[in-house]
Amino acid sequence: MEIYEIEGGHKLEGEINVTGAKNAVLGIIPATLLCSDVFTIENVPNINDVVKYKKILKKLGVTFERDGDVLTINSKGLCDYDCSPYEDEISEMRASYYLIGALLGRYKKAIVPLPGGCSIGDRPIDLHLKGFRALGAKIENVHGAISVEAEKLKGARIYLDFVSVGATINIMLAAVLAEGETVIENAAKEPHVVDIANFLNHMGANIKGAGTDTIKIRGVKKLHGCDYNVIPDQIATGTYMIAAALTDVDVLIKNAIPKHMEALTSKLREMGVEVINEGFGIRVRGKRPFKSADVKTLPYPGFPTDLQQPIAILMMLADGVSIIEESIFENRFKYIEELRRMGADATVKDRTCVIQGTDQLSGTQVRATDLRAGAAMVLAGLVADGFTRVSNIHYIDRGYEDFDKNLRSLGAVIERKEV
Ligand code: UD1
Repeated sequence: MEIYEIEGGHKLEGEINVTGAKNAVLGIIPATLLCSDVFTIENVPNINDVVKYKKILKKLGVTFERDGDVLTINSKGLCDYDCSPYEDEISEMRASYYLIGALLGRYKKAIVPLPGGCSIGDRPIDLHLKGFRALGAKIENVHGAISVEAEKLKGARIYLDFVSVGATINIMLAAVLAEGETVIENAAKEPHVVDIANFLNHMGANIKGAGTDTIKIRGVKKLHGCDYNVIPDQIATGTYMIAAALTDVDVLIKNAIPKHMEALTSKLREMGVEVINEGFGIRVRGKRPFKSADVKTLPYPGFPTDLQQPIAILMMLADGVSIIEESIFENRFKYIEELRRMGADATVKDRTCVIQGTDQLSGTQVRATDLRAGAAMVLAGLVADGFTRVSNIHYIDRGYEDFDKNLRSLGAVIERKEV
C-alpha cells in the first residue's frame, strides 16, 4: 500500500501551475465517440480517472497517444455500443455515465453498466435518464447495466428537477446529433459544463447558453474532430489556494482562472486571507489568525461541494466557530471522524458540520475516505505537529496530478511511500 507521509510545519512559498480540469476532460474524452475522427486535446491532466477512461475506450476501439499534456484521440476505430463486458472498469468511476449519452448520440443505442465514483451519498442518474427519455429513448435496466435505445432522437424541453452537472453534460452529449432543438432548463453552470459545450461546438455542434441555466442545443447532422485546450482545474486551483492560505506565506497559482474561484476567494478573504488576482494567476498570502466563517455548498457560482473538505481544514484552525452546510451530497462528512484523530473539534449532524477552531492539529495516521477528503487530509498534515501519514491515496491519484511533487516544489515535506 502507498501512503503520503507529511512532516508538518514547513512554510510554502513560490509558484505552481494548475493542470487541466478533471471534470471537463472526463466529459471531453467520451464526447470524441460522437464521430469518427482525430482530436488533439491540450492541457489534459495525467490523473488516474483519465487513465481509466482511456482503458475503457481502448476496449471499444479508440486509440490514444500522449505527449506531455497533449492527448491525441483517434475514434475512427470505435466499433461498439455495448460496454457491458467492461463492468469492472466502468463501475470504478462516476464519469463513465457519459458513455450512455455519447453512444446514444452516435449509435442511437448504448448498453452501459451503472457508474461508481466516490461514496459521498446517494448518486442516482434518474435525471440523466429523464433527459434521454424526453429525447425519445427507451430505457431498461438489464443485469445492472443501463440499456438505452431510440429509433431516432428528437429535440425536447427538459427541466432538471435538481441542478446536476452530470445530467446537464450527458443530455448535451445525447442531443447534439438529435433532430431539432433541445432546451435544458435549470441546467448546471459549472465551468466544466461550459468547457464541454465549447468543445462540442468545436466539433461542429450548435450549443448556446452554456454557463446560464438554459442551454439550447440545435441538432446537427455531423460532427468532426478538432484541436482543443482544456480549462484549468477549478478544484485543484482551490486546493492549492487553501494550502497556501494555511501555511502562512506567499504562493502564486499560475494558469488559474480567477473568475472560476470567486466563491472561494471571497470566503478566504472573509477568513482574513489575502487573495490577489493577477490575470491568469492567483496570489494567496495566508495570515494567522484566521477568522471563522460559514459555508453552504451550492451549484456554481456558489461554493463548490468539492472544496468543502479542503476549506474545513482552515476552519479547524480559525478563531471561533465555523459552520458548513452541505447541500449537494448527503454523506460528505465521513472525513471529519479521521480529522478528529488529528485534534479537530468538529461535530456532524445530518448535513451540517460545526467546527470549533483550535490552535494546532496533531499529526497521526489517517485514512482518505474519498478524493477531496484525501486532499484535505494532506493539507491538514502540512500544518499539523509532527508526522501525518495518509493512506488510501489512490483516491487522491484519481484527481490530482503530481500532488506531492507540486507541494514539494513549494517547500512542503511530503513523501510517497510504500508500506
Ligand atoms: C459532478 C462531479 C463531482 C462534483 C459534482 C457537484 C464529475 C465527474 N463529477 O458529480 O466532482 O462533486 O458534480 O459539483 O463531473 N442527482 C440526482 N439525480 C441525478 C443526478 C444528480 O438526484 O440524476 C443529485 C445528486 O445525488 C446530487 C446532486 O444531484 O445530490 C448533484 O449531483 P451532480 O451535479 O449530478 O453530480 P455528479 O455528476 O455526480
